Amino acid sequence: MKILITGASGNVGRYVVKELLNKGEGVVVAGTNVEKLKKIFGDKVDVVKFDFVDKETFHKALKDVDRVFLMRPPQLGKPEDLYPFIDSMKSHNIKLVSFLSLMGVEKNTIPPHHKIEKYIEKVQVPYAHIRPGFFMQNLSGIHSVEIKEKNEILIPAGKSKTSFIDTADIGLSVATLLHEPEKYKNTAHTITGPESLDYYQIAEILSEITGKKIMYRKPSFLKYRSDYIKKRGLDKNYVNVTVALYFMTRMGTAKMVTDEFYQLTGRKPRTFREFASENIDCFV
Ligand SMILES: NC(=O)c1ccc[n+]([C@@H]2O[C@H](COP(=O)([O-])OP(=O)(O)OC[C@H]3O[C@@H](n4cnc5c(N)ncnc54)[C@H](OP(=O)(O)O)[C@@H]3O)[C@@H](O)[C@H]2O)c1
Repeated sequence: MKILITGASGNVGRYVVKELLNKGEGVVVAGTNVEKLKKIFGDKVDVVKFDFVDKETFHKALKDVDRVFLMRPPQLGKPEDLYPFIDSMKSHNIKLVSFLSLMGVEKNTIPPHHKIEKYIEKVQVPYAHIRPGFFMQNLSGIHSVEIKEKNEILIPAGKSKTSFIDTADIGLSVATLLHEPEKYKNTAHTITGPESLDYYQIAEILSEITGKKIMYRKPSFLKYRSDYIKKRGLDKNYVNVTVALYFMTRMGTAKMVTDEFYQLTGRKPRTFREFASENIDCFV
């Protein structure tokens, strides 16, 4: 039996695929854009068209599959959008789903991940929730525009600290869980990077690595929201969700450091400095 990877072309999904193939598992990659998936993964995997909001795609995606990596695409803001597929996993007797959740959602009911975890538990699909801290890839991805163009980090996180994790490390953790479904049945894992950094420290590391002076000016929510919606033209709902997340970050919800990555994989998580050095092109 194979393992279905939703969001396979995403920040985390692509590393889940890589690590499962390393472990000798059979993998089915899923997404709305099949051509994109074929381009990324070639013939090492099966490719299936899959859309969370199109039930017609579920049966084919779950054929000959007994484990699933489940992620919520950021553009699906309502937890209920994922419920039909979770029901479908139940009727296909999936023996483990690893859901990409978020650090702290066991105590925080606001992010959609909270309700999604609860729904998986309620319908009794065996689960191994993965609750990572903020991704290092947020800096090399969405926030790299201002770093490249203005030598500035435009994130409204105040002076708060964040225990950034590389999505490659999340991918390895998820693959570890899915590879041993009995061992990790009905568990939850909060994984983080090795240290908690504020954005002044992030700016310092990026400055050292790139040789440019990169600044963090502690922007307000208003400035961030207006620049991201009006200047960059990003989706308003997406920006509002991130405002809520950075509000929580200011309350200290993103700073915890755990050793669960080491417990799961026997490896040390990547530092932000290592990540930034390897991805320098994203910042210059
Ligand atoms: N960024 C962070 O710091 C952070 C921290 C903790 C948790 N998270 C959570 O991680 C998740 C995002 O993961 P990511 O960054 O790996 O994703 P991502 O890079 O944004 O990729 C989104 C993926 O979703 C797929 N997709 C989009 N619409 C779809 C649909 N209707 N049906 C099926 N697939 C669809 C896309 O593939 P196609 O284009 O092929 O459809 C793509 O592979 C979110 O739930 C977020 O809240 C993020």
